[in-house]
Amino acid sequence: MYSSITDLCYLISTVFFIIGLKRLSSPKTATKGNALAATGMILGILTALFGALGGEPVNNYGVIAVALALGITIGLIAAKKVEMTAMPELVSLFNGFGGAGTLALAVVELVGYLSGVEASFGVLLTVLSALFIGAVSFTGSLVAFGKLKGIWNEKLKLPFSAYINVLLLLIVMIALIYYSINPSAISLGFVLGLIFLSLFYGFSFVSPIGGGDMPVVIAFLNSLTGIGAALAGIVYTNNVMLFGGILVGASGIILTVLMCNAMNRSLAQVLVGNFGGTSSSSSDDGDKVVKEVTMSDLAVQLKYAKRVLVVPGYGLAVAQAQHVCRELEVLLEDEGVEVKYAIHPVAGRMPGHMNVLLAESDVPYEKLLDLDDANKSLEGADVVLVIGANDVVNPAAKTDSGSPIYGMPILEVENAHQVVVFKRSMNPGYAGVQNELFFKDKTKMLFGDAKQSLSGLVKELAEV
Ligand code: TAP
Repeated sequence: MYSSITDLCYLISTVFFIIGLKRLSSPKTATKGNALAATGMILGILTALFGALGGEPVNNYGVIAVALALGITIGLIAAKKVEMTAMPELVSLFNGFGGAGTLALAVVELVGYLSGVEASFGVLLTVLSALFIGAVSFTGSLVAFGKLKGIWNEKLKLPFSAYINVLLLLIVMIALIYYSINPSAISLGFVLGLIFLSLFYGFSFVSPIGGGDMPVVIAFLNSLTGIGAALAGIVYTNNVMLFGGILVGASGIILTVLMCNAMNRSLAQVLVGNFGGTSSSSSDDGDKVVKEVTMSDLAVQLKYAKRVLVVPGYGLAVAQAQHVCRELEVLLEDEGVEVKYAIHPVAGRMPGHMNVLLAESDVPYEKLLDLDDANKSLEGADVVLVIGANDVVNPAAKTDSGSPIYGMPILEVENAHQVVVFKRSMNPGYAGVQNELFFKDKTKMLFGDAKQSLSGLVKELAEV
């Protein structure tokens, strides 16, 4: 009786996860989808806690209550305080703790086997794999967090890391299979060695990855945590953990493949952890000068344009300039100018960052062009406004094989008649490389905070 109620609750949780995930695919339904998935998670946790009353007794409610209270408090404070632009860092950190949870569960199981509990080949292989995946996603996510926050020392990477990573992977795989076949050979030394190697692999896998390749590795680490949770679900025969893990793992892998395609990388390169160029090659801009545009000149130029494209980037999000950007769009449309937005798949700092940002200010979805359509539309556009974007319009991705963004498809803004770049200084973007676009004949710079510049432009335009 208890077990069928427990199973039913788990089934309801899983259905909530699936419907919640489906609803996350559109900005209109995403909030409700998130709430639904969270409800599924609460039901899953409560069922795991009280459902066990019908089976084995749970003696440690005190510890669980303290852990839950701590987790809820930290989660609530972090989620309330975090800036939209720091969301990817928070997600990386949470992801890392998910991996650490899986690692801890696997260690507890292995300690049981060390003290004589018997386990089949399948169970052992599952537990050992969960340990490896959990540890990799833990240290990998911490490195990713450090890189996104800009506190990670980029020099901290091994020489020949691609070869070392392949070797490490091979050693771990062979060890997992050998010890799953020979459980009697499992010793404390082996468990500690495996934990160390797995934690180290997470570090050596993510540390050489940088520049424009971070989005792919973040998606991949997310999927690893999901796979780790699914493996733990198998070990504990807990259906909600299994299905939840599968959903995270599968959606993470789909996102990884989409990101790989967007960045022109292969999944094999991700697994070895050695993408394209990682040197911070920066072009020498010593003698070159940029041209600036005044607010009033730009207002006139825009008023008489027929087609204007906006390229939003990370700086638009930092400045929280999405609302005034929308104001400018409406003003221009009232003047008969067609305005569209060119969205690069890795613009900003998280998948769909620009879509979410523009949806906040009610930009109609039809106005957002994906990379291919945007590049078609850029040809012959009168003016392109590059607002707080840098790497995603950097021609070095096509021309400089030593650049960390080499191979990444870009928005080809040079095909428009005029390019105006909104940024505060000549500082580079996330990949740390200078942008030749800024020195081209058809490019003009409008220096300043994006929100202030756009507000000034809106005022000018109203007066022209
Ligand atoms: P970035 O290349 O990072 O450039 C952002 C630009 O915005 C900077 O050049 C900065 O110049 C400017 N900026 C910052 N604050 C500003 C403000 N208040 N007002 C005006 N400008 C401001 O951005 P992007 O073109 O969107 O490219 C995204 C990069 O992040 C890619 O390399 C991508 O691979 C990486 N990344 C993406 C993701 C995902 S999933 N989207 C995740 C991790 C990493 P100033 O400082 O001179 O103002």
